[in-house]
Amino acid sequence: NAVTATVRVPMNIAFVKYWGKADERRMLPLNDSVSANLDDLYAESTIILTTDAEADGVIVNEVPMPVGEGTRFAKVFAEFRRMIAGTDHAQAKILVVSTTSFPVKAGLASSAAGFAAIAYGLGKVGELNDAQVARLARLGSGSACRSLYPGFVHWDSSKTGDEDTFVVPVESGIEFASTLFAAVFVIDNKQKTVGSSEGMKRSVQTSNFLKYRVQEVVPHHVNLIKEAVSTADFITFADVTMRESNSLHAVCLDSLPPLSYLNETSFAMINAVHDFNSTPAGVTAAYTFDAGPNAVVLAQLTNAQRLISHFSRLPWAKFVFETKDEQLKEVLNVQEENNHGDLPEIRVILTKVGKGPAVVP
Ligand code: DP6
Repeated sequence: NAVTATVRVPMNIAFVKYWGKADERRMLPLNDSVSANLDDLYAESTIILTTDAEADGVIVNEVPMPVGEGTRFAKVFAEFRRMIAGTDHAQAKILVVSTTSFPVKAGLASSAAGFAAIAYGLGKVGELNDAQVARLARLGSGSACRSLYPGFVHWDSSKTGDEDTFVVPVESGIEFASTLFAAVFVIDNKQKTVGSSEGMKRSVQTSNFLKYRVQEVVPHHVNLIKEAVSTADFITFADVTMRESNSLHAVCLDSLPPLSYLNETSFAMINAVHDFNSTPAGVTAAYTFDAGPNAVVLAQLTNAQRLISHFSRLPWAKFVFETKDEQLKEVLNVQEENNHGDLPEIRVILTKVGKGPAVVP
């Protein structure tokens, strides 16, 4: 007596950033955020509900995870059991086997894609509604709840009730996302960084600037970016995205002890994007950074060639581009090799954006 589902859910990147919780236990955010998925950076999970197993279990990239009391897996599973109480599977154990298409070690995705895939898969085997699936994802990792829709997604912090639908697609988000791509720059991290859950907690407790950000900066940015997405206004989108990233990292530095996630290479990336944007072609790219030094650069597909050439000519690193996407592969094929000899190599993953979750047949 078992039921199973396999799903694929991409990680998302936020343009308006989530940083701070209003309620730790319920994982409610202090402010709204807006994101889109990175299509080729996904988690694939098989979920099995079975009465034949002795205990719940989770395996991620072949490594068994602790699922005991106090872990986020335990929290998600307990909430799922509450949701399916009284059904045929209420007594079943939950088994999860996940793999990620990206190197977790590179500090690429937080656990967001993983928890989104678990929640989406549990939604399939447990026949849950969208609001329930979003709540399960959020309990695993706040940002995970934004991976559940295609296009651009808005996580609304004003919704706090259990039955509330707190993640909603942004108007015309699928159309706008289809004109864009992302370049994920995997930047080596020598420092040991503070994880986002702990980092945001420190900011909530110690940063004065966080209050101003939550009350004044974010509401303004959310309005601007929703408008920019629905009117396909890349310049405003880029402006807000870069300011948001900088605002988040300013809050981090305003925390005590300060949180410094960006390194020298991150700042070189920031400068490289501003240089790219100051040519006669205008603003055609935007960077954003989460709780680590990796840069994600968003640009229009029509500018892919120019962006890659720009980075290939920089004298301080050798950028090694890769992609699984056919259209982006063609762009890379016409690219001349750069001849940078002994420069440090930076891996760059190119992917389209805005893909939603899917069941794998
Ligand atoms: C900087 O979702 O990883 O990436 O809710 O504690 O699991 P928890 O935190 P998490 O935080 C993500 C923070 C961020 C910004 C963002 O994705 O909005």
